[in-house]
Amino acid sequence: MDPLPIIFTVVLLAGGLYWFVFLLGSAEQKGKHAVHLTGGSIHHSNVKETYNQYWFFFRRPKHIEESENVPAFVDTFYNLVTDIYEWGWGQSFHFSPAIKGKSNLESTKIHEQMAVDLIGVKAGQKILDAGCGVGGPMRAIVSHSGCNVTGITINEYQVNRAKAHNKKAGLSHLCDVVCGNFLNMPFEDETFNGAYSIEATCHAPKLEDVYSEIFRVLKPGAMYVSYEWVTTELFNGEDPEHVEVIQGIERGDALPGLRNYSDIADVAKKVGFEVVKEKDLAKPPAGPWWSRLKMGRIAYWRNHVVVTVLEAIGVAPKGTVDVHEMLFKTADYLTRGGESGIFTPMHMILCRKPEKVQES
Ligand SMILES: C[S@@+](CC[C@H](N)C(=O)[O-])C[C@H]1O[C@@H](n2cnc3c(N)ncnc32)[C@H](O)[C@@H]1O
Repeated sequence: MDPLPIIFTVVLLAGGLYWFVFLLGSAEQKGKHAVHLTGGSIHHSNVKETYNQYWFFFRRPKHIEESENVPAFVDTFYNLVTDIYEWGWGQSFHFSPAIKGKSNLESTKIHEQMAVDLIGVKAGQKILDAGCGVGGPMRAIVSHSGCNVTGITINEYQVNRAKAHNKKAGLSHLCDVVCGNFLNMPFEDETFNGAYSIEATCHAPKLEDVYSEIFRVLKPGAMYVSYEWVTTELFNGEDPEHVEVIQGIERGDALPGLRNYSDIADVAKKVGFEVVKEKDLAKPPAGPWWSRLKMGRIAYWRNHVVVTVLEAIGVAPKGTVDVHEMLFKTADYLTRGGESGIFTPMHMILCRKPEKVQES
């Protein structure tokens, strides 16, 4: 028998397998490949059980009311999803309005740069990123502004990922990353010249607790901007479909209950901020932020096969398929929330800490 066709077939199959497993579907900003999916800081053998615990907690609104447990479950959530986000999404874990003629990556960067432009800081000043993920926004912001950014995240695995990315990008001298709870931050009063949070404070059971901490660590006169996940004026709590969509978003994104857009400024004022501006950045003429999720649906089936194979052969931990499935279902709820206009992940609020803080 002629060995040539056999060799040719084997080479073709091996090449195809390499492409399918190592290259396919890796994030735009090559952070992770499918073969490197882990459960963050959770041991390989405990991922499935930990996922079940997470799901049990966030499925039951009564337990979510036990707000002191929320940061621990948010930490668990980010152990479970961080690699999958990096694989499928990139290093910035947030949405941005679609901009005609710009890639997702470019639109993401513009959205991040806008945050630092809004707080009007100068190169060399010290700013805080409350809920920094693996630092995609931080790196875009230091490159754009020349500021020093300190990020805080509850998730240790993200701290390590962020530090590795900062080093690789040659930005470690401008970026610091700390593991901690933004409801009780390990920083002195009046440390920062400015602060921002991108799609992170929605994880706080009480917005007041995180806003008051940010207020405390800002210097007088400093500005803070936040992109908040909220329900909009179109949300009707009596409409079962609206309720289903919002609960679907909460459960699949580790949220202890979404707030309405109208509550945000009241909380900011209550902790002492002056509210400078508020705007839903998702409103037209902004392009739909959820279009990225729709394109992701096609990729989902392809990625689902990859994840299933990797879990079956023991490369990805057991439970990875469940987490992937949960994120896919949540993407559907997010899309429905965006299309119906009842939800936005980019209600922007810009605040200033007064020069003279009122004594209460
Ligand atoms: C959706 S991610 C956004 C990350 C980052 N801002 C970005 O846009 O890439 C939310 C972030 O908030 C952080 N977070 C949530 N609750 C937190 C808490 N109580 N303390 C500190 N970080 C928290 C998570 O660890 C995660 O990094």
